[in-house]
Amino acid sequence: MPETGMDERSGAAIILNRNMVRHGAPPMKASGNTILMTGGGSGIGEALAHRFHDRGDTVIIAGRRKDALEQAAAGRERIHTRVLDVEDAAAVEAFAKAVVADFPSLNVLFNNAGIMKFEDLTSRRDLTDAEATIAINILGPIRLTNALIDHLIGRPDAVIVMITSGLAYVPLVAAPTYSASKAAIHSYAVSLRMQLAGRVEVIELVPPGVQTDLTPGQAHRPGYMPLDAFADAVAALFLEQPTPRDILVEEVQFLRQAEREGRFDETLKTLTERAARQREEGNRRS
Ligand SMILES: NC(=O)c1ccc[n+]([C@@H]2O[C@H](COP(=O)([O-])OP(=O)(O)OC[C@H]3O[C@@H](n4cnc5c(N)ncnc54)[C@H](OP(=O)(O)O)[C@@H]3O)[C@@H](O)[C@H]2O)c1
Repeated sequence: MPETGMDERSGAAIILNRNMVRHGAPPMKASGNTILMTGGGSGIGEALAHRFHDRGDTVIIAGRRKDALEQAAAGRERIHTRVLDVEDAAAVEAFAKAVVADFPSLNVLFNNAGIMKFEDLTSRRDLTDAEATIAINILGPIRLTNALIDHLIGRPDAVIVMITSGLAYVPLVAAPTYSASKAAIHSYAVSLRMQLAGRVEVIELVPPGVQTDLTPGQAHRPGYMPLDAFADAVAALFLEQPTPRDILVEEVQFLRQAEREGRFDETLKTLTERAARQREEGNRRS
């Protein structure tokens, strides 16, 4: 008979095995982690890299733009930079080998790199943006997680963080492939968490609209959460013990809980109209 126990956070019954050495331990150390942050050269990735660095973690930031990475790492001795295009499967494999060789203490992976494109589905179109979104936002995290899983599973304190979006729960109709890519990664994270239970913690970070350069004009778009306020709130949630399974700031609950609270259709309509207004207003100001 397998020995059974209870998952502390979900309350679900789980089958214990020899690898569950961390059962009952805090999921993410409060400092002293070695974190790989994809997309760490700008926006949310950069802001979180700085927060984690400030509390004593070592952070490797990765992305395509060397200059952006170097700027994000400037003056911070425990932030290291690596150029990586997560769309390139061979590069992801080579990168993972090199990063593990350079940083054998690597124990936290943040799959944060992503792109967002607006798309008009009402007539035949070029699918370049849709295909790139799938390659970067879905295949990127799947490939990088795969390339690092044997290393992470051997660590006593490993964590994988999947960055999804409030739009995984209620789509932004103007960004259909993006919204679908985040819904896919939400689902993938659920399976990953169950398969890795007791061996590697899997956390889903679900941002609301945040003022970054993810889309043109978004860094100043009214109604979006200021980046520093978001990064501070997320850093505080990561300090909770045990680390929450889902990192949710208050601003994203409107989307995250819409279906659960029986207001999906209404929220979809409100979001569609509000987002169009915010983009128009932002475009007028810029
Ligand atoms: N801001 C929001 O409102 C919001 C809301 C929900 C979720 N998110 C998610 O949060 C994450 C970070 O976005 P952000 O808002 O911080 O926007 P951002 O500033 O544009 O950051 C995206 C990062 O991803 C990197 N990246 C893009 N394609 C890449 C590739 N092929 N290979 C490696 N790195 C790549 C970019 O660096 P390079 O260009 O140098 O490669 C950039 O640093 C994304 O996954 C996004 O979907 C953002």
